[in-house]
Amino acid sequence: MKFDEAMYKEVLQAYNNAYAPYSKFHVGAVILLKNGKYITGSNVENASYGLSNCAERSALFNAYSQGYRKADIEKIMVIGNTDTPISPCGACRQVMSELMDKDATVILTNLNKDIKEYKVKDLLPYSFEGEVLDNGN
Ligand code: THU
Repeated sequence: MKFDEAMYKEVLQAYNNAYAPYSKFHVGAVILLKNGKYITGSNVENASYGLSNCAERSALFNAYSQGYRKADIEKIMVIGNTDTPISPCGACRQVMSELMDKDATVILTNLNKDIKEYKVKDLLPYSFEGEVLDNGN
């Protein structure tokens, strides 16, 4: 697998833009759209801790807010200052599962450029799906 330097540069910028005064743990994410455009997201914390938003969700909500949908998304890259490539939290896996194609690529990395690559479906098997909400109950 060829390391995507251009995408890494974008994700590092998102990492640097994180607002994480409480945890001091910066996370960056970048989505590469099929049209070649990048959309970034950073973790944004709050003094009321539970209101904090993860980088992956910031990036995906940013993309959707601009009108893009799952069919437009090629892949997402996520970075944290971790010994091994960052592991997305469960909430972000659920959101990736709904807002990205199940076969879309998720690239996980760190400041050493270690890389792990997964499909969305591999990060959250047996995910909760919106279809079940339309079951007549
Ligand atoms: N965080 C993310 O942005 N993404 C993850 O997948 C894991 C955790 C953020 C949330 C919080 O701002 C900080 O990292 C520490 O948990």
